[in-house]
Amino acid sequence: MAVEVFRTIAEFRAACAAARGSGARLGFVPTMGALHAGHLHLVEVARRHTERVAVSIFVNPTQFGPNEDFAKYPRTLERDVELLYGAGADYVLAPSVQEVYPEGEKTRVHVAELTEYLCGPFRPGHFEGVATVVAKLFAIAGPCTAVFGRKDYQQLKVIERLARDLLFPVKVVGEPTVRDADGLALSSRNAYLSPEERARARAIPRALAGAATAFAAGERRAGALIEPVRAALSAAGLTLQYADICDADQLFPLHPAVDIGERALIAIAAFCGTTRLIDNLVLGEDAAPVVAAGP
Ligand code: PAJ
Repeated sequence: MAVEVFRTIAEFRAACAAARGSGARLGFVPTMGALHAGHLHLVEVARRHTERVAVSIFVNPTQFGPNEDFAKYPRTLERDVELLYGAGADYVLAPSVQEVYPEGEKTRVHVAELTEYLCGPFRPGHFEGVATVVAKLFAIAGPCTAVFGRKDYQQLKVIERLARDLLFPVKVVGEPTVRDADGLALSSRNAYLSPEERARARAIPRALAGAATAFAAGERRAGALIEPVRAALSAAGLTLQYADICDADQLFPLHPAVDIGERALIAIAAFCGTTRLIDNLVLGEDAAPVVAAGP
């Protein structure tokens, strides 16, 4: 079956409602487009859980800061639709900014606490923009299973909380990070990296793999797990925003002397040149990145 592309909310909403009306369960994958194998994996997972899969493609202006890449964010709708056809999606919503944010709109969704850590202080307003647009998208799609990536772990936690707190009839599913052969997490922003920057960026999955190895060998001290990560990233010439070890549910940073027990989140945000990369791993839960050998 072909992919149906809707440019208006009303048409997309009607298609989702009709699918449910015919007895199909609806899967939903919100994206900003410039799709890669990570996004397509989410579509395939949705496909496994449900009979109809909807994808939104919307570069959401409210989640970008004034000095961020909203204007230059890649927009590749035609190619995205072809890829979605291959992955088994049924409906695509590609709405206008004017329709998602009607003139005079005044409503924002704020999720407390979870948004105060990690990316929160470095990207003021970012999670409010994400939570607002995801609430709108959930309101548009209606009852569904929505699939998100663990690559954006903090975002996933914020969305799980908003779905629960605002009583959306949406089941939120989080999927493991899809990585390239060299271990780097797939991201639309990897396209900005020069070959030399790309080689340096590999320090990120390597550092995460190193922490996973230490954890597997029995290391449980928060400081002893995170310090080598920071050192390796700096040695690779990356500019750290943060490399933190945190409570995997509440996201607050753990004191270096703390014993992490069974589970903890390692989260990284670093600039490689002018490109901001994020990655993370939940020790005790996620599979360690497989990092290709080489320089
Ligand atoms: P975007 O960056 O396009 O990502 C869409 C979805 O793909 C998110 O759930 C993200 O976590 C997931 N994803 C990205 N890279 C991935 C990878 N390498 N492996 C697995 N999943 C991956 O995240 C957003 O868009 C926006 O903030 C959005 C939620 C759509 C709200 O505007």
